[in-house]
Amino acid sequence: MRDAWRAWRDRWARWRDATLSNPSFHAWAAQAPIVRLFARREARAMFDLCAGFVYSQVLGVIVRLDVLEQLRHGPVPMTRLRASLPLPPEGAQVLLDAAIALRLLELRGRDAIGLGPRGAVLLANPGLRAMVLHHEMFYADLQDPLAVLRGERHGTRLGQYWAYAQSATPGALDEDAVARYSALMSVSQDMVSQAVIHAYDFTRHRRLLDIGGGEGRFVINVLDSAPALEGVVFDLPAVAARALARLEAAGHAARADSVGGNFVTDALPAGADVVTLVRVLHDHDDEPARRLLRNIRAALPDGGRLVIAEPMIERGRGDVVGAAYFGMYLKAMGSGRPRTPEEVRRMLGEAGFAQVDVRPTSGPLPLTLVIASVN
Ligand SMILES: C[S@@+](CC[C@H](N)C(=O)[O-])C[C@H]1O[C@@H](n2cnc3c(N)ncnc32)[C@H](O)[C@@H]1O
Repeated sequence: MRDAWRAWRDRWARWRDATLSNPSFHAWAAQAPIVRLFARREARAMFDLCAGFVYSQVLGVIVRLDVLEQLRHGPVPMTRLRASLPLPPEGAQVLLDAAIALRLLELRGRDAIGLGPRGAVLLANPGLRAMVLHHEMFYADLQDPLAVLRGERHGTRLGQYWAYAQSATPGALDEDAVARYSALMSVSQDMVSQAVIHAYDFTRHRRLLDIGGGEGRFVINVLDSAPALEGVVFDLPAVAARALARLEAAGHAARADSVGGNFVTDALPAGADVVTLVRVLHDHDDEPARRLLRNIRAALPDGGRLVIAEPMIERGRGDVVGAAYFGMYLKAMGSGRPRTPEEVRRMLGEAGFAQVDVRPTSGPLPLTLVIASVN
């Protein structure tokens, strides 16, 4: 049955490719009412793909110039908004028209301008705005996408930003080297924690160890949702120090701690019955990732669990975030790769985990959860 389905799909895909690549099909489709709709949709999607890098730049400028903030309390006259921008009037108008077309902004009446639906979402999400701003570096690296794909790792902007990615001694990184990426991770963590907490029940556990836990935002959010749970952040020493201050400021000093070290080479703190790896595994090449998983397995007791949450590649399911965005991103960063849930499952089996369960999550960032049990 499966073979028959695969053969049918293969025949359909060949027919579709031959048809869509034939110019006379498009001439005919332009006249045929229903086909015209489908053909137009694909053509439009194709144009958006070609133009996506321009749309991202418009988005970047809107965020950089803090345009959305000016509209937080309601629409303003177009002339006032235009005059507030550090641009000549014609340039300002091109920017505003582009942002309206991209639904970041919206015309209100004849002369006023307010937030568009996408702008409103962005205004509510400082993490997303911080991500947009840091894309300036990714964009610079993508000036030469072939060099990125060839793995010419040194000197990329993202490689410098994520200081641990190419460092032989990440444990020695100082406050300056970790501050910027740690702040970005922290400000974008709330949307991630919400999705993970929704998909996994932490209240069944006693003590959580969040490996590569950054400034502790994930632990703070989980402890807020599970009043009896204790939490420990493990990260590079300079990051762990930042986490300790955040845990204390959040009022969790009695239930939470932070430990510094290198998760590939150092033993991990014992005593946790659940370990989390949130947006961590994909940052690392296969060999250090395997060592990390073995290290976690050694720190967990019987009945312990490991929860991995990160964007993964869902091949064949139209997944662009895992495959296209993170594929290119991690190549530019010079370390790691997005994996399929099946690859992660295999690595977990090799590290000595017995059972593995895969769960998708819902939320703005497509995260997959892989949950492994010691036995
Ligand atoms: C992409 S960030 C994710 C942070 C956090 N889990 C989150 O989702 O916000 C990866 C984290 O792993 C930490 N890290 C990287 N290599 C490490 C190593 N060898 N030992 C300990 N921590 C490491 C980094 O300092 C960083 O905080």
